[in-house]
Amino acid sequence: MKIREYRSPGYQNFDLGGTGFDKVWNAALYNELYPDYDSFYAEILNFLRSKNIDRTSRILDSCCGSGFLTKDLYLDGFNIDFADKHPEFAQGFLSEINQKLNTDVRVIESVWSEYPENQMLAENTYDFIFNRGNSFIYASGDINKAFKADSVAARMRFKAALEGLYYVLKPGGVLLLDKYKDDEVPFKCHVGFDTNTKKDIIWYCNRKPAQHFREASIGLQDDPNVYMHYCDDLYDELLFELATMVGFTIEKIDLKYEKNFAVYILTK
Ligand SMILES: C[S@@+](CC[C@H](N)C(=O)[O-])C[C@H]1O[C@@H](n2cnc3c(N)ncnc32)[C@H](O)[C@@H]1O
Repeated sequence: MKIREYRSPGYQNFDLGGTGFDKVWNAALYNELYPDYDSFYAEILNFLRSKNIDRTSRILDSCCGSGFLTKDLYLDGFNIDFADKHPEFAQGFLSEINQKLNTDVRVIESVWSEYPENQMLAENTYDFIFNRGNSFIYASGDINKAFKADSVAARMRFKAALEGLYYVLKPGGVLLLDKYKDDEVPFKCHVGFDTNTKKDIIWYCNRKPAQHFREASIGLQDDPNVYMHYCDDLYDELLFELATMVGFTIEKIDLKYEKNFAVYILTK
C-alpha cells in the first residue's frame, strides 16, 4: 500500500535538546493527534461521567507513558494510579505533578500479563482503567529487533494481557482501550522541526498484511538511533474474540475528538 506522506497541520518548531521518547511522543500527541486537546479532554470527562466515574473512583492508567490525558485528570482531582512497563517515560510528568501538589506519586513498574504476580497491584481494585495511545498492540512480545511475527503466540499474549487487566478491574469496572483502525492507511507524518538537531520529527507507520505485522517509529529524520517498533496484527475480530473469551463484554464506541484510533469499551 502506498504511504501517505504529509506535514502535520500542527507542524511547529521544538527544541528537543537531545531528550528522548516522551518529548517526541508529546509533540506528535498535541500537534498531530489531538490539536483540539481541550475538546478531547471535555469529551473524556463526559464519558467518565456517563460511566459513573467520579473523583472518588479508583482509576488505573495501565500504560501512562508521558502522562497524556491522565496527568491532567490527576491534577483535576481524579484518583489515579500510574503504571507502565517503562517507568522512565513517566519521570517528567510525575516530577511536574509532585512539584505542583507537593506529593510523591510514583509509577508502578508492571507488564499487563504479569499483573496477578505484581505485589503493587491487587485483584478487583479499579473502577476504570485506561489503556490508550495505541499501546495494547505491543502486548504480543518483543517489539524491537528481536520481533518475529507469530500469529499463534501473539494470540496467547494478547489474551494474557487482557487477563491481567481483567484481574485488577472490579466487577462491573470498565477498561477503555484503543488501537490503530483496521483500515489504517500507512503514513509518514512530519510532526515538527527540532531546532536543536535541525531535523524533522517524523512519525511513521506501515502495515505488512502479508507478513501479519505493523511497524511504526517516531523520532528525528534519518536518526540511526530511532527504533522501529513492530507488533503482530490485531484486528477487531481478534480483539472481540479474545476479550469475550476472557470474560469481558466489549463494544466499539465513537468519540468525536478521537480521530486517530479506534476505541473499545470492555466491561468486567
Ligand atoms: C505509545 S505510549 C502511550 C502512552 C500514553 N498512554 C498515551 O496515551 O500517550 C505506549 C506505552 O505503553 C507502554 N507499554 C507497552 N507495552 C506494555 C506492557 N506490556 N505492559 C505495560 N506497559 C506497556 C510503553 O512503555 C509506553 O509507555
